[in-house]
Amino acid sequence: MQVEILENAQQVGEYAADRILRGVASGKITTLGVATGSSPLSIYESLESKWIPQLIDLHVFALDEYVGLQPEHPSSYHAVIQREVTDRLKLKPANVCVPQGNGPDLAAACARFEAAIAAAGGVDLQILGIGRNGHIGFNEPTSSFSSRTRVKTLTPATRADNSRFFEKDEQVPTRCITQGLGTIMESKEILLVAHGASKAKAIALAVEGPVSGMCPASVLQFHARTTLVIDREAARNLTLLDYYDSINAG
Ligand code: GLP
Repeated sequence: MQVEILENAQQVGEYAADRILRGVASGKITTLGVATGSSPLSIYESLESKWIPQLIDLHVFALDEYVGLQPEHPSSYHAVIQREVTDRLKLKPANVCVPQGNGPDLAAACARFEAAIAAAGGVDLQILGIGRNGHIGFNEPTSSFSSRTRVKTLTPATRADNSRFFEKDEQVPTRCITQGLGTIMESKEILLVAHGASKAKAIALAVEGPVSGMCPASVLQFHARTTLVIDREAARNLTLLDYYDSINAG
């Protein structure tokens, strides 16, 4: 894994956005995987401020969605992706695909989502955040490394972390649809972004820990083109910090 350590969230966003824009401008990135949560917001802000016309034709796939929320609910990932990605980047709504978590047949929604990714030729670059417990998408600890898009139950810790997006704790959904770890691993390139001390433990386990279902992000050690773009606070538990710094300085 390549580890880029920057000074703050804004720099993390700009670094990731520049990388995405280079890929979009050259035609190498036509499908982008997007994440929700606060970590990637600085990427979307930077993409908006450096907007290029080629972004209009981008196909976008979300990582996950809550089960049981209407798409119009402001905390649904449909709504978040529309606000933060589709509108900011002037994408065509028909090119934006989010799993349908409110339908009668969730298994069919998962299968449709996988088929849509395959029909688009796969994801060229996947943006990821990371949960404090090491989850990526909503693949909670002990998720199978070969899992596909499916329904998962959220851990109490994740529900507590995400309660800030809801008026009352009991409104946080208990289940979600998420791309599987196997699905995410098929992305041609991955950029994982994180900032802040609350992510330091998960980042150290993901990069330097044993590959283990207890830290789902550690599966990325098997991915050939993954870059972590993190700030100093998120990097502070890394044992080989001086090594990553020396690579980036050289
Ligand atoms: C949610 C999302 C993840 C995201 C995580 C971290 O659980 N499903 O994709 O990475 O939150 O969010 P934040 O960046 O706000 O810490």
